[in-house]
Amino acid sequence: MDNVSLGVIGCGVMARDLARRCVRLGRVRIAAVYDSDPDIAASAGVELVAEPVFDVGELCNRIDIDAVIIASPPGAHLEGVLAAAAAGKAVFCEKPLGISVAECDRMIAACRNAGVPLFVGHVLRLFPLFRHSIRLCRDSVIGKVRGVAITRTGYSTEFHSGWRSGRAMAGGLLYEVHVHEFDYMRALLGRPTRVTARLDDAYRKMEYEDTAYVMVEFEGGGTGLLHASNSSPIGEYNVHIHGSEGNMVHGGFGGNLRYQTIHGVATEVSLSEIGGQNPYDRELGSWIDSLTIGLEPLFTGEDGRMAVAMAECAYRSAGSGKPVSISEVLTPSD
Ligand SMILES: NC(=O)c1ccc[n+]([C@@H]2O[C@H](COP(=O)([O-])OP(=O)(O)OC[C@H]3O[C@@H](n4cnc5c(N)ncnc54)[C@H](O)[C@@H]3O)[C@@H](O)[C@H]2O)c1
Repeated sequence: MDNVSLGVIGCGVMARDLARRCVRLGRVRIAAVYDSDPDIAASAGVELVAEPVFDVGELCNRIDIDAVIIASPPGAHLEGVLAAAAAGKAVFCEKPLGISVAECDRMIAACRNAGVPLFVGHVLRLFPLFRHSIRLCRDSVIGKVRGVAITRTGYSTEFHSGWRSGRAMAGGLLYEVHVHEFDYMRALLGRPTRVTARLDDAYRKMEYEDTAYVMVEFEGGGTGLLHASNSSPIGEYNVHIHGSEGNMVHGGFGGNLRYQTIHGVATEVSLSEIGGQNPYDRELGSWIDSLTIGLEPLFTGEDGRMAVAMAECAYRSAGSGKPVSISEVLTPSD
């Protein structure tokens, strides 16, 4: 395929941004858009110069569509992916892939059986400080990575109403937001084995927790810690990576990255020094290249499923008060 004709499912903030970026990147046109709210579909149609349609199956079955972007709420991703797979259309699905491993399994199986590729938008890994930290750690600048502690806290009233406030569509804080951090932990530490978590709901503004403390154990002995909350008027983002010969800290979406070995001198790199392509353009470029010239995609359904598995283990652990093995939520053949 030389050019890609796209359908968009869910036409909110993220979908419109992704669609506009695809068009700017070239080789892409938006043919049709669908949203469960017809007024939103109609306005997206005007904005993206695409035909609004009012049924997800109708959108996926159009012969002028090669692929779909799914950016509906997480609890609706399953419906979109299954409709796209049934119609033989390639899929870009926003994170989280689903709000349970069982949902992810259904999506991956449907796409595999239909022979369509499934890409999941785990863009966090591509933000400059995250991307640079992964590269430096793979170059062993602090020795072998042994652990990572991430704090991501804030207070967004966006979570207090609409689909983000409910479990049915958001899944919970760890699905809707922090699959990003779980995916980043995997990029640094490999395969997760066991998760222990405690949750809290200090302000009771959503149907689910507003604070989570999660410990993830990895094959090879690595440890990941996540402190996440949407109950922190003083928000912060910071990452601390421990290596066998030194450590690295960075500020996530802003600030600098610093690292030092025990006997070395500190090295500091600023966001602007790292530079590089916009992370969303980079992920979409990878997706389009995978469809048009067959390049290996940056992220697949399996990446989406593993991040969801870590979140699901955390919820089970918080419920039981015990550590939960990844093997308990994945099938034995995994
Ligand atoms: N990767 C990132 O940086 C990032 C950032 C924000 C959001 N997201 C993800 O993007 C997705 C959408 O988030 P958003 O911020 O655009 O939300 P949004 O509320 O702006 O948009 C969601 C849209 O989906 C529509 N919708 C609801 N149910 C639907 C259904 N069953 N079928 C089709 N459309 C439906 C709504 O009417 C709305 O227009 C979520 O999965 C979210 O986690 C990712």
